[in-house]
Formats: sequence, C-alpha cells, structure tokens
Amino acid sequence: MEKIDHLSLDKSQTELIEAAISLRKMAYCPYSNFKVGAALRDDAGDIHNGCNIESSDYTLTTHAEMLAIDSMVKSRVGAKIQSLAVALSSKSGYPLPCGLCRQKIAEFSDGDVIVYGVNLDELGLVSDIFKTSLNELYPFSFNAINLE
Ligand code: THU
Ligand code: ZN
Repeated sequence: MEKIDHLSLDKSQTELIEAAISLRKMAYCPYSNFKVGAALRDDAGDIHNGCNIESSDYTLTTHAEMLAIDSMVKSRVGAKIQSLAVALSSKSGYPLPCGLCRQKIAEFSDGDVIVYGVNLDELGLVSDIFKTSLNELYPFSFNAINLE
C-alpha cells in the first residue's frame, strides 16, 4: 500500500475518486453517523457508485461498496470490477473496505483490483489517498474454486 499525492492522479483516477466522495453525501446513516461513499470502474470503463444505507434493524445495513457493486451487476451481464475507490473519514488513518466488502469485490473481479482509500477530514476535505490492491488486502480469498 502506498500513499499517493492527489497531484499525481490522472483524469480517470480523479473521476473515480470524485465519484466516491460525491456519493458519500447520499449516505443514509442516522445510527452510526458514519458516511461512506464508493465508486468502481468496470471492465468497460463505466463508473458505478454507492453509499451506505442503514436500517433500525442494524443487520440490514448496505455498505457503500456493496451498493456500487450491485449497481454494476445490474448494468451488464458479466461486468467485472477493475478499480474501486472508497471515501470515508477514518480515525485509524486507513480508509479501506471492510472484510465483507473485500469478499464481495473478489466475487466480481477477474484478477486483481486496484483499490483507492480516500481519507477525509471533519469538513469532508481529502486528507490522504492510499493506493493498494485486492490481492494485498485479501490474499487467499475464499472463491468459487473452493466449491469445486
Ligand atoms: N461501512 C461501509 O459502507 N463500508 C465498509 O466497508 C465499512 C462500513 C458502513 C456501514 C455502516 O453504515 C457504517 O459504515 C459504520 O459501520
Ligand atoms: Zn464493507
């Protein structure tokens, strides 16, 4: 994982990260007050995004990455994730998808996925951007081969 300077981002990376930051504003999170936005680019170059959506039954929560992936899945049969950005404000300093989301990203990828983790400050301004990959975040993942 590396920390990257926002000045080094190209147009396509900037577009993806801005989509994640923008969708974070739509988060429905009255219980945690923890807003998350996610955006992914699929293998056709299209962007799909999502935010977290909570419920008074806490177990029904949709994570931002999950909504972005569901949006991609319904857009085109066989679509795969190439890169994904998640935007949140993390006190740990590592604004990365949780374990459940890593599993779901693995389900809809074909090889490795570039993952951008965008940490925001209290005002919602970008403080740090990390670049990593699904292979780094989730090696030896559980996958369809296990079921054969
Ligand atoms: N959340 C996400 O949207 N993505 C993650 O990968 C981690 C957690 C949301 C779920 C819940 O609404 C809030 O963040 C606090 O856990
Ligand atoms: Zn998650």
